Amino acid sequence: MKVRYSFGMALIVVACAPLAMAAGPESTAPSGQVIFEDHCAKCHDSFFGGLIKRAPRIGKQTAWAEFISQGVDKMTDNSITGEGRMKERGGCDECSDADIRAAVEYIVAQSQ
Ligand code: HEC
Repeated sequence: MKVRYSFGMALIVVACAPLAMAAGPESTAPSGQVIFEDHCAKCHDSFFGGLIKRAPRIGKQTAWAEFISQGVDKMTDNSITGEGRMKERGGCDECSDADIRAAVEYIVAQSQ
């Protein structure tokens, strides 16, 4: 019984390790998806963000086609400076330029 319990715990720890690494604040290179979900989804993947802020929704190809045609560099610059109705860095002051770029790349990958 004791052995089975430890084995089960070990499995849980192994299974959760990648998740903890991706989401942990100490992680040096958070994935674009994590940045997106933490800081961008409230506008770019929500009913109210779309309705009230009129933010293009992730995955909606027609909404992103024009932005994507400018290229990822331009989209990243616009996201950092705050273009149009979007705030600087989408309001994420602690996001580095690389974080913003990763989130933009995630949006583009999901929306074309
Ligand atoms: C407060 C709501 C809000 C948040 C949070 C937000 N955005 Fe936006 N975003 C918008 C709106 C609204 C637009 C449309 C801007 C326009 O067309 O005037 C936009 C446009 C964009 C564009 C297209 C910019 C261009 O002109 O090329 C990108 C890329 C983008 N957002 C990325 C992000 C990323 C990455 C994050 C998270 C770090 C984020 N946004 C967070 C509201 C938001």
